[in-house]
Amino acid sequence: MRIGVLTGGGDCPGLNAVIRAVVRKGVATYGHDFVGFRDGWRGPLEGDTTTLDIEAVRGILPRGGTILGSSRTNPFKIDGGLDRIVANLGSAGVDALIAIGGEDTLGVATKLHAAGVQVVGVPKTIDNDLGATDYTFGFDTAVNIAMEAIDRLHTTAESHHRVLIVEVMGRHAGWIALHSGLAGGANVILIPERPFDIEEVCRYVVRRFESHYAPIVVVAEGAVPKEGTMATRDGELDSFGHVRLAGIGQLLEREIADRTGKEARATVLGHVQRGGTPTAFDRVLATRFGLHAIDAAHGERWGTMTALRGTRIELVELAEATRELKVVPAERYAEAEPFFG
Ligand code: F6P
Repeated sequence: MRIGVLTGGGDCPGLNAVIRAVVRKGVATYGHDFVGFRDGWRGPLEGDTTTLDIEAVRGILPRGGTILGSSRTNPFKIDGGLDRIVANLGSAGVDALIAIGGEDTLGVATKLHAAGVQVVGVPKTIDNDLGATDYTFGFDTAVNIAMEAIDRLHTTAESHHRVLIVEVMGRHAGWIALHSGLAGGANVILIPERPFDIEEVCRYVVRRFESHYAPIVVVAEGAVPKEGTMATRDGELDSFGHVRLAGIGQLLEREIADRTGKEARATVLGHVQRGGTPTAFDRVLATRFGLHAIDAAHGERWGTMTALRGTRIELVELAEATRELKVVPAERYAEAEPFFG
């Protein structure tokens, strides 16, 4: 078989490990042949390909990003997008696709599968918010980067008796905030699933100063105040209809300073969380996903994706990837609450 591989959506550490595993096992064990599509769905849409052989995947295991490039192109938002993809797969001699991506990329893969394209999916997102899999690679790396930032901010916050606010990624799900906040000993953790009460946040901040420690507030970018308690701003939409979030850290900076009289500063970690080398956990998970994805393609298990269930990698229906967003359950958030204040 000639198999096309693409990576779509926001990049994350571990994508290269998946590509490497797919190609290494695909060539060595099954004798398949590969072609890379550049920049997510833009590649098959425009017929933009790149060589993907053993040579091309040498040395990429520890590298962040993706050697194939990525984009948030949504082919179903483009006139004739589906037909163009089918035609380009045909002219590149591609029999099947392995699509590595999050909710949006796998949503497109699900539709292509329904239209007859032979596709296997691999889930990725630093947000860890895909319902079908216990973990996605990239998450562990992002949490470790955020935890290290929190550790560093603790010491400077204490020197200057400041409130330091750390804004982490997570537009719909607060997993990165919850895990990095727990691991880093945050004063309070604010997540999208649980609208916050700014008065309560300020009470925690004041209490932390009473014990002569400086508070670190960890906030997910998608966290929102309880209605009517604090003014927020709206952002622009991207081609999948997502709002470009910006600014909850800075809004909190102002509110906390005004309400407590303490100096407050926000640090937005942003794309630092998505860059650089993956942790060992993410390299292993990504490698296992790649190995199982090529097994699935070889076995013609079209319309499925790899998922981590406990410690096993299983194949689930692609449609499951987008069926349910895995948000932080109330009881998991409650586990962090004894450490607030
Ligand atoms: O979905 C992954 C993610 O990293 C989100 O946490 C974040 O909101 C978004 O991507 C940012 O995307 P962009 O690359 O468009 O800035």
